[in-house]
Amino acid sequence: MVKKKLYEVEIQKIVQKGYGIGFKSKKTFFIPYVIPGERVLVEPVRQKKDVVFGKVKKFLRTNEKRTEPPCPYFGKCGGCHLQMVSYDMQLKLKEEILKDALSHIGNIENIPVEHIEPSTYPFNYRIKAQLPLKRLKGKVYMGFYKPDSHYIVDIEECQIQKKTISEMIKKLKEILQEERITVYDETKKRGRLKHCVIRCDAEEKSVLLIFVTHLRGFPKILAQRIYEIDKEKIKGIVENYNPEEGNRIFGEEIRTLIGDDHLFYRIGKYTFRVSAISFFQLNPETAKKMLDFILSNLSEYKEGIDAFSGVGFFSIPLAERMKKVISIEISKSSYKDLVRNVKINEMMNVESVNADANKYLEEVENANLILLDPPRKGLEKEIFKNIKRISPEKIVYVSCNPQTMAKDIEIFYKDLNYDIEVLKPFDFFPQTHHIEVCSILKKR
Ligand SMILES: C[S@@+](CC[C@H](N)C(=O)[O-])C[C@H]1O[C@@H](n2cnc3c(N)ncnc32)[C@H](O)[C@@H]1O
Repeated sequence: MVKKKLYEVEIQKIVQKGYGIGFKSKKTFFIPYVIPGERVLVEPVRQKKDVVFGKVKKFLRTNEKRTEPPCPYFGKCGGCHLQMVSYDMQLKLKEEILKDALSHIGNIENIPVEHIEPSTYPFNYRIKAQLPLKRLKGKVYMGFYKPDSHYIVDIEECQIQKKTISEMIKKLKEILQEERITVYDETKKRGRLKHCVIRCDAEEKSVLLIFVTHLRGFPKILAQRIYEIDKEKIKGIVENYNPEEGNRIFGEEIRTLIGDDHLFYRIGKYTFRVSAISFFQLNPETAKKMLDFILSNLSEYKEGIDAFSGVGFFSIPLAERMKKVISIEISKSSYKDLVRNVKINEMMNVESVNADANKYLEEVENANLILLDPPRKGLEKEIFKNIKRISPEKIVYVSCNPQTMAKDIEIFYKDLNYDIEVLKPFDFFPQTHHIEVCSILKKR
C-alpha cells in the first residue's frame, strides 16, 4: 500500500463550518477539530487544485484551551464541531469567524461588533432532535449523519439536547427494535419509517413525537405502546407523511395518532403554540436574551413589519410596543400558529399574512421598522427594492448565517444608506460552529 504524504501544518485561524486553516507548500489546508496555534501532521482526504481538506494524523503541539470532549460520538457524528475547545475559547473563535465574514465577504470595516452573548446552557440546550433511521441485519440504527454523508451514526444520547430528549431516544430505539415496522431504505427506496423527531418544551414538562413516513400508515397500536413510555410527558404523537426524496425532513401532511399535534412554549410573559412542523427557536433561553436585546435597543415605532415571522416569536413582543405589526410567514403550519398566538397573547394589532415576504412587501406602503429573520440563504434580491421604497428608520436583521448576512448588510450599507448601529452575536448553538447574529441598522 502506498503511504499518503503527510504535511506539517500550523493552524492560523478557524473559519466557517468550524474548519481550521493553515498553509504549507503553497497549499491551503482545511482541517476539522483543530484550534488556532496547534501544529499538526495532516493527511489529505480530498484536494482541488491548491485547496486540501485533510484530517489530523498526529498533534505536534496542542492549544492550552483543548479539552476532553464529553460526548462519545464527537468526531463521528456531524452534529458538533467544537467540543474539543473550552467554552470561553469557543466564544472567542465565533467572534473571530464573524469579524472575518464581515470584512472578507461584506467588505465593511469598523463595524461595531459587540461581544458574543453566551448560551444560558453550554450543553443540554436544544429542544428538538431530528433523527434519521435505518435497519441493518435486523438492528435499528437511529442517530445523526456522519459529516458530509448519509451514513447514520447510531446514538444512545445527545449531550446538546435537553436530557428528556436523550431519555426518549433510548426508549424509542428499544421499542422500534422490537416492533415490526419497516424502516425506510434510501438506496432501495422501500420501507415506511424515515425519521423520528422529538420536541420538548424548555422546562422539559412536555414532549411531542413526530414520526416521518415514506408510506402512509404509522400503526396506531405502535403509537399506543410508545405513549406508555411516559403518558404524563408525551402530549402528542403524530405522523408526518413525506414521500419526497431529498434533504427536507417534513412533508405537509399531518395525522394525529394520540393527543395533540402541538406544544406550548413560555417565553417571558408570552405563550407560543408551536405545531409539529412549525419553526421555533431551538435554544429558547438564549433566544429570549436576543429578544430582550432587540426590545432594549428600540424606542418609539408606530408601524412595524416582521418579514419572516414564524409563529410570532418577535412579532408579538414587538406589537406590545407598537401601533401595528404586519407579520409575514410563508409556511402554512407556522402561519396558523401565528394567528392563534396573536389571540392567545391578546395582541390584536398584529396582522398575520401567509405569503412570501420577498413578494408581499410590494403591497406595503409604510413602516418605521422592519425586522428580517430570513432562512440560511439570506434575502432575495427583489426584497431590497421594496425596503428601499418603504424606507424604514430602522432595520433589525437577525441571521443564522454570517456569510449571507454579510452580503445583505453590505447592500443595506452601500446601496440603501443604512449605518450599522450595533451588531451582536449570540451563541444559540454551543459546541457547533453555528453563530446567530442580530444587527440593528439605522437610516443615514
Ligand atoms: C429563521 S426562521 C425565523 C422565525 C421567527 N423570526 C422566530 O424567531 O421564530 C425563518 C422563518 O421564515 C419563514 N420563511 C422562509 N422563507 C420565507 C419567505 N420567503 N417569506 C416569508 N417567510 C419565510 C420560515 O418558514 C421560518 O418560519
